[in-house]
Formats: sequence, C-alpha cells, structure tokens
Amino acid sequence: MRVFLTGATGFIGSAIIPELIQAGHQVLGLSRSDTGADALRAAGADVQRGSLEDIESLRSGAAASDGVIHCAFDHSAFDQGFSRFIEACEQDRRAIETMGSVLAGSNRPLIITSGTGMGLPGPGRPAVEDHLDLEHPNPRTASEAGCVALSERGINVSVVRLPQVHNTVKQGLITYLVRIAREKGVSAYVGEGQNRWPAAHVLDVARLYRLALEKAESGRRYNAVAEEGIPTREIAEILGKGLKVPVVSLSSEKAQAHFGWLAMFSGLDMPASSALTRQRLGWNPTGPTLITDLENMRYF
Ligand SMILES: NC(=O)c1ccc[n+]([C@@H]2O[C@H](COP(=O)([O-])OP(=O)(O)OC[C@H]3O[C@@H](n4cnc5c(N)ncnc54)[C@H](OP(=O)(O)O)[C@@H]3O)[C@@H](O)[C@H]2O)c1
Repeated sequence: MRVFLTGATGFIGSAIIPELIQAGHQVLGLSRSDTGADALRAAGADVQRGSLEDIESLRSGAAASDGVIHCAFDHSAFDQGFSRFIEACEQDRRAIETMGSVLAGSNRPLIITSGTGMGLPGPGRPAVEDHLDLEHPNPRTASEAGCVALSERGINVSVVRLPQVHNTVKQGLITYLVRIAREKGVSAYVGEGQNRWPAAHVLDVARLYRLALEKAESGRRYNAVAEEGIPTREIAEILGKGLKVPVVSLSSEKAQAHFGWLAMFSGLDMPASSALTRQRLGWNPTGPTLITDLENMRYF
C-alpha cells in the first residue's frame, strides 16, 4: 500500500515509517522543511512537501495514496496559551476533513490520531474504545468530531487514541513535566498522586497504526494502551530521582501556578483499557514499561 503519512518527521511518525516499510508498504511523508525532507528520504520514504496550513499539499498527498495516517499536530501551540491550543485543534479538524474528502467514494482508509481521554466513561472507570465524549473539555475533541463527520459521509476513517507514548527520550505530557520540574526545582504531583496516566512504548504504538491501516475497518476507535494507568506520584518520584530534585505534593489550587496549561491534566485520573483493541487487531504490546524508560532516561 502507498501510505501518505503526516507528522512523518515527528516522534511517532518517524517510528511508523520503518514499521510500514518493513511490512512492504511505501511511505509518502509530509514535510514542511528541507531538514525534514532529508530525514524522510534517509528513512526510505518519498516526500510530499507542504504543511497543515497548505491545504493543497494535504489534498495532493492523500490523492497520491492508497491510505492515509495522520499524525501531524502543531504542539508549539502548547507553549503559546490555551486559545492557541484550541486553534491547533481546529486546524487538525480541517486537515482531517480535507484528507477525508479526497478519499470519499474509494474505501481507502484514513487513520487519525486522538487521545485516550476521549473515551473516559466516568470517574474511576477506564477509557474504552467504544465510548466517545464529544462534550469532554479537552479541545482535542475537534479531531474526533472531524472523524465522526467523515464517517457519516461513508468515508473509511478510524481513530488511534494515544496515551503517554514513550521511549527513553520522549514521553508525551511527561516530557513537559520534566521541563517544569527542571525549571521549578521540584517534581510535583497533585494531592495523593493516585490519579493514573496510561502509557505505551512508541514501537508498539507504531505497530498498532500499521495494523489499524491494514485492517481498514471503518468507524473503529483503537486505544494504543500497553499499561492501563501509572499513578502520577510514581511518575513524579522517578523524575525527582532522575533530576535530583525533591518530590512534593501540591493542592489543586497550587497546581495551576506550578503546572501552567498542564494543570488541565496533572490531577486527572485517566486510566484506559485496550481490551477491545487487542482483540480486534491482535495487538500485543511488548515494549519496555514507562517507568523502565524513565529510569533509563539521561536527565543531564
Ligand atoms: N506523543 C504522545 O505521547 C501523544 C499522546 C497523545 C496524542 N499524541 C498525538 O499524536 C500525534 C503525533 O504526536 P508526536 O508525539 O509524534 O508529535 P511530534 O513529535 O511533536 O511531531 C509532530 C509532527 O507534526 C508536524 N507538524 C507540526 N506542525 C505542523 C504543521 N503546521 N504542518 C505540517 N506538519 C506539522 C511536525 O513536523 P516538523 O518535524 O516539521 O516539526 C512533526 O512531524 C499528534 O497528533 C499528537 O497530538 C501524542
């Protein structure tokens, strides 16, 4: 299959490229820079120059492919305030609609990316694949709303929902926790730190994207979850040890000042199950655990 991959130069996209190529697929990766384009060619992919702002480049990439995996997202928005994050989510919805419209009438699959939090059915219960809460306060619901709109038009679209995706270099939101702990000189958690975050190793996640693409079952939502939930206190303790800073508990009032925009997530209990995903895709994660990767990370 010739696969158009957005976000191909990113953390997860760059792990998806070898996964696809080793399985006999060809990759057409989106890049907005010369450096990115060179990296894609070196990894064995063809290059579609363009960006999320350049709608025509998304159309061309999708039109030239048998299927699309969409991993691009403007994370610089995280550092520029909440309203910028909302804009980035709306940009994601537009990209999804654009590429989906190109695939209309063909049954060629589009795999989009979301977060496991979208499937939380209620306090204390793990997020599940078949639940979708479009009222969830996270603006990232825009991505799933875009997917629902395409599904209603008969387009073959499915969603990969991600937890904290990790290796020994990056770990999703935890990468920002490391930065905050380094800046503030303490590694913090909220309250008793019993709230849990799910996780999966990046190579397991890459395999899941490939399986979802090959299965091409329209309307499916997959949870790329290897570990259902690691207490945030445990995470803060490992970071404190690695950074050689004290570990502290903060009240939810103090969490806002300490974590900034990340306070939206820092106290959230968001366990997630992948039982249906494993069953539907035959996916069995085998990578190291989050704590193992955090223990083996080079903090200095
Ligand atoms: N990592 C996690 O733990 C995690 C958890 C939940 C959800 N996700 C989601 O998973 C997806 C992939 O995440 P990631 O960790 O791989 O992110 P990442 O490392 O930040 O990579 C983002 C990718 O998007 C590209 N990109 C950003 N803005 C763009 C724009 N305006 N036009 C074109 N491309 C643009 C980047 O290109 P450049 O190389 O040119 O910057 C890069 O290839 C995202 O949707 C993310 O929100 C990730």
